[in-house]
Amino acid sequence: MLFGLFLCVGLASGQAVVAQDDPATIGDPDAPNSVPYAFPMSGPFDAAGVDVRNTQEIADWFRSAHADATAEAFRHWDEEEEITAVCATCHSGAGFRDFHGLDGSEAGVVDGPIRPGGVVDCGTCHDARLADVTEVVFPSGLRHPVQGVEASCMTCHQGRTSGEDVAEAVADLDLDTPNPDLSFVNPHYATAAATWLGGYGGSGYHYEGMSYAGRFFHAPPVASCNSCHDPHTLEVAFEPCQTCHLADSPRAIRIARQSYDGSDDTSKGIHSDIEANAATLLDMVKTYAAEVAGAPIIHDGSRYPYFFADANGDGAIDQAANGPTAYEAWTPRSLRAAYNWKLVTADPGNFAHNPIYVLQLLYDSMADLSDPLGVDIDAMGVRR
Ligand code: HEC
Ligand code: HEC
Ligand code: HEC
Ligand code: HEC
Ligand code: HEC
Repeated sequence: MLFGLFLCVGLASGQAVVAQDDPATIGDPDAPNSVPYAFPMSGPFDAAGVDVRNTQEIADWFRSAHADATAEAFRHWDEEEEITAVCATCHSGAGFRDFHGLDGSEAGVVDGPIRPGGVVDCGTCHDARLADVTEVVFPSGLRHPVQGVEASCMTCHQGRTSGEDVAEAVADLDLDTPNPDLSFVNPHYATAAATWLGGYGGSGYHYEGMSYAGRFFHAPPVASCNSCHDPHTLEVAFEPCQTCHLADSPRAIRIARQSYDGSDDTSKGIHSDIEANAATLLDMVKTYAAEVAGAPIIHDGSRYPYFFADANGDGAIDQAANGPTAYEAWTPRSLRAAYNWKLVTADPGNFAHNPIYVLQLLYDSMADLSDPLGVDIDAMGVRR
């Protein structure tokens, strides 16, 4: 069993076993620089009797998404020689080390080549040189100061776009005129750090004249990724939350006294308000597409680029010879609303990462669409 785990770890990192990648030597000041074998170099020996250190951490990590070598996030480049450099930073431990210069290469760029097959291995977070990484640059250009292993989470869970990318794409265009030059701007996945930094991180599309909540400081000591997530299982232990919150699950937690979704129900968790407003916003994007842009839209979260054309409005995605037809009738107004919707829903932990910021993005997007739709946002009962 342990032997199996250890071998898998070695294979997953896809490299010769060196100290930083040897899961058994992390935290061991006496570990030699290179530990090519976990087993004695000559036998006979009893596999079950071999002492492998850090077995708990290895086992926890092994069951987590970070170690799932079968996931699309790690298999996407299987057919290729190397992982595209701009993708490698977040899709392989080796790419991450290369990007931050932990492997001795120039920092801030993946010099590569990074072979496919790596996962978020131990050495991604356990590398003494990570202490030298003092800031992480976000897609908005923000240089956010970090300490220690926080640098790792903030690098990979920051998403790939900022609201500025959307603003630039739609600049000077007529708000409600479909423009075939516009295409969907995809914030990417698991964008927890982007949500967490809120308006300060600049990931959302910010409407003119509106102000946005900054980083969600929450309540120290619950103020960093690893104060809620176990860094190996990645799970969130609920008991510690209950010292401050009266609820029976994270999703049932609520502090807000007002209802945001028009239900007037403040007994449910803030998660429900966010989910409801996100659903309302997506409905409004669809209605707007059909009625204002004059080109119905279909959302299919399972395939890129997620928004497709349905010219005759029959509810089925239009098919061309080369596959489903991407939506091509974006207007500045629908693009920025759809972008905010996707950013918010790309983070399943949004309610814990920054509830106020995501509610603001959803509200402002709904309010913006309500104008041309002739809908009274106040009558909808939704709040900012
Ligand atoms: C800033 C870090 C970052 C960069 C850069 C990045 N990704 Fe990702 N990507 C992620 C994270 C985090 C996930 C995991 C989301 C999840 O499955 O929870 C992910 C998931 C994916 C997935 C899996 C989606 C699914 O349906 O499971 C694909 C495919 C992908 N990325 C492709 C790419 C490509 C192609 C590039 C380069 C053009 C890229 N990524 C660049 C962070 C990044
Ligand atoms: C995503 C980042 C991440 C990955 C991947 C990771 N760890 Fe950790 N690990 C941490 C963090 C953060 C802590 C500190 C936890 C704390 O202080 O409570 C930690 C703590 C530990 C500790 C406790 C001693 C110490 O050095 O602080 C050991 C041992 C350990 N990890 C081993 C491993 C092994 C072995 C692997 C791979 C199988 C691994 N870790 C993968 C982030 C990670
Ligand atoms: C090298 C990039 C990288 C680093 C560093 C990293 N992650 Fe991840 N993380 C990913 C990818 C990629 C996935 C998706 C893996 C998959 O689909 O199996 C993921 C998945 C997750 C998930 C689970 C999502 C799910 O679908 O279950 C959580 C939670 C998470 N990471 C938290 C963290 C935390 C906390 C840290 C810092 C201690 C961290 N990550 C560091 C890339 C990274
Ligand atoms: C206040 C506690 C808290 C903090 C701080 C926190 N998270 Fe979360 N996170 C959660 C909760 C709760 C969930 C939702 C889990 C669920 O519903 O299963 C979550 C979900 C996630 C997910 C999606 C997991 C999935 O199932 O797809 C990722 C990825 C993630 N967090 C990463 C991070 C990163 C990176 C940080 C630091 C920037 C962070 N989290 C900070 C509590 C927290
Ligand atoms: C030390 C006390 C404390 C602990 C522990 C704590 N929280 Fe909180 N939490 C707060 C406070 C205070 C707020 C309000 C913060 C604010 O609005 O600025 C809050 C707000 C929230 C909110 C937003 C609620 C709303 O209606 O806006 C969520 C969700 C949440 N916490 C989840 C969690 C989770 C999940 C955990 C455990 C991983 C946790 N909290 C642990 C004190 C705590």
